[in-house]
Amino acid sequence: MAPLAALAIGYLLGSIPFGVILTRIAGAGDLRTIGSGNIGATNVLRTGRKGLAAATLLLDAAKGWLAVVLVAWLVPGEAPLAAAGAFVGHCYPVWLKFRGGKGVATLMGIVLALHWPCGLIYAAVWLAMLAVTRISSLAGIVAAFSAPVSAGALGQFDSVMLLTALALLVIWKHRSNIDRLLSGTEPRVGARDG
Ligand code: G3P
Repeated sequence: MAPLAALAIGYLLGSIPFGVILTRIAGAGDLRTIGSGNIGATNVLRTGRKGLAAATLLLDAAKGWLAVVLVAWLVPGEAPLAAAGAFVGHCYPVWLKFRGGKGVATLMGIVLALHWPCGLIYAAVWLAMLAVTRISSLAGIVAAFSAPVSAGALGQFDSVMLLTALALLVIWKHRSNIDRLLSGTEPRVGARDG
C-alpha cells in the first residue's frame, strides 16, 4: 500500500499544470495553443510575460521537490517512487489528456530533494548551458543527464538508475526539439520566434 500511496501522491502533485493555470489566470490564453504548445516555463516566456515564466519554473520545480520531501516524511523509504510519480505526473497529466510537459524544471526540484548537491549542479549546468547556447531544450537535456552523472560521482549510487531513466524520458519528451536541433531550426530564448 505504501508504494502505491507514494506513487499517487507524487503523480497528483506532479500533474498540476502550473504553466497552463498561470497563463490562463493572467488572461494570456491557452498555453497549449501558443508557441511550441508545451506547458513549461520556456513556452510561457513566449507569451512575453517573464514573471509568469519565472513563476512557472519555480512552481514546476517546487512540486517535484515537495512530492519527494512529503513522501519521505509520510512514507519513509518511498521517496524514489514519489520522484518517479511526480515526473510522470508532469509529463503525462490526466487533467490534460496525458499531454504534459518535458520534465526539466520538475526534475530539477526532484533532484534537489533527493540529493541537494546534485540539484545545485543540475541548476548550474542548466543555467550555464542556457547562458552559452540560449537554447532551452539543449540546456534542459544536458542538465537532465548531469543528474545521474553527479549522483554517481558523489557516491549516490542508489539513485543513478532512477535518474538515468528520468533523463532518458527527458530525451523522449524532447523528440521534436532534437529534430529541430539537428536541422538547426530550434529557436533561441529571446529570439522573436523563440
Ligand atoms: O523545458 C522545456 C524546454 O526544454 C523546451 O521547451 O517550448 O522550446 O519545446 P519548448
